[in-house]
Amino acid sequence: MSRPAPNPFRYGDLAFDEAFTDREAETRELRADVRNGQNVVLFAPRRYGKSSLVWRVMRELVATGDVLVAQVDLLATPSKEKLAEKLASSIYEDMAPPVLRARDKVGSLFSGLRITPRILFDPNTGGVTFSFEAGHAREDVDATLERLFELPAQIAAERRQRAALVFDEFQEVVEIDPHLPALMRSVFQRQSEVAHIYLGSKRAMMHRLFNDENEPFWRSAKQMELGVIHPDLFAPFIVRCFDRTDRRIDATLVERVLAVTRGHPYATQELCYFLWEEVPEGFSATDADVGDALAAVLRSENAHFSRIWDKAARGQRLVLQALAAEPDRPISEEYRRRHSLPSDATVRKAIRALSDDELVVRTADGYRIAEPFFAEWALRYES
Ligand SMILES: Nc1ncnc2c1ncn2[C@@H]1O[C@H](COP(=O)(O)OP(=O)(O)OP(=O)(O)O)[C@@H](O)[C@H]1O
Ligand SMILES: [Mg+2]
Repeated sequence: MSRPAPNPFRYGDLAFDEAFTDREAETRELRADVRNGQNVVLFAPRRYGKSSLVWRVMRELVATGDVLVAQVDLLATPSKEKLAEKLASSIYEDMAPPVLRARDKVGSLFSGLRITPRILFDPNTGGVTFSFEAGHAREDVDATLERLFELPAQIAAERRQRAALVFDEFQEVVEIDPHLPALMRSVFQRQSEVAHIYLGSKRAMMHRLFNDENEPFWRSAKQMELGVIHPDLFAPFIVRCFDRTDRRIDATLVERVLAVTRGHPYATQELCYFLWEEVPEGFSATDADVGDALAAVLRSENAHFSRIWDKAARGQRLVLQALAAEPDRPISEEYRRRHSLPSDATVRKAIRALSDDELVVRTADGYRIAEPFFAEWALRYES
């Protein structure tokens, strides 16, 4: 007897293969941009699927042998030394020609660096890690990074391939060092054949980095904005995922799910994950299952939402509760009166802080809470 299929929905990790849906236009566009060596900045709120999209495109380009791709996640590199380590590691793993990957040749790959990294070989995995110790002079660290930023273009040219350099969570760049953008840009602007891809959330910061003319990255990349996955495209994906297993869902219930999540990629996968768990083997999802799944999601997210709530100032909490009850409305005088909100100035300040933290997003009609379940949670929260 074959084993029953596992839950087909996934949230948290990157969405690959069967867990990935839609984004066809974005995939095509990004693929062409990378091949052209065009720099791209990809904006989207948290959990919209930025990393999944870029990795899907990059994996495909690498598999077809078109492009060499190095990548760094700036959330994982709180210092310039750590950034140098991760970059060296990706250049070694993903770009270096096989002859330079041999144990006795690794050193020569990085021989031109001002600071020589310590190279560690893991005998169990065969893996190689690089470490740049702290305590070096600033100029030496900068010179080392500068050289590392130059290497992908050089290796790609030697291997007669194109190169792409991906920076995930790019909004962190100024946390690492406020001068880092200038250093990066001074190198990258000379690499017209390399596609530099920047992904980030914290809209305000990302927009400032790329749209403020005093910033080194000002207008240095094509801007791409990732929205939610349209419910018309998400719906067949959800049905297909259920169909792959021993459980079913009909169109009206899929609609109910999507009415809650509005096509938010992470939230949709999360609610579907819990919903699939509610449905017994061999059965179809019911209305009650959707209600139970939603309650289960809120329980599971309670710690996360409580933390956000605890950190929010009083004015912000009031605005969150108002927006949870009545989204998509501008914060007008009338609205403030209806929801007993404080002064215009206080509400504006709260909205600004909440937008910077991406807790609320601006829509054509005003503002609403970004995460679908947070709105539900805030409504049920008894202060
Ligand atoms: N194309 C997609 N199809 C289906 N689900 C998706 C898709 N893209 C993202 N998701 C869902 O959203 C979740 C978050 O995706 P991902 O980590 O790529 O987003 P992100 O924008 O990079 O998030 P973060 O801001 O946390 O870095 C995934 O775990 C998956 O559940
Ligand atoms: Mg990401």
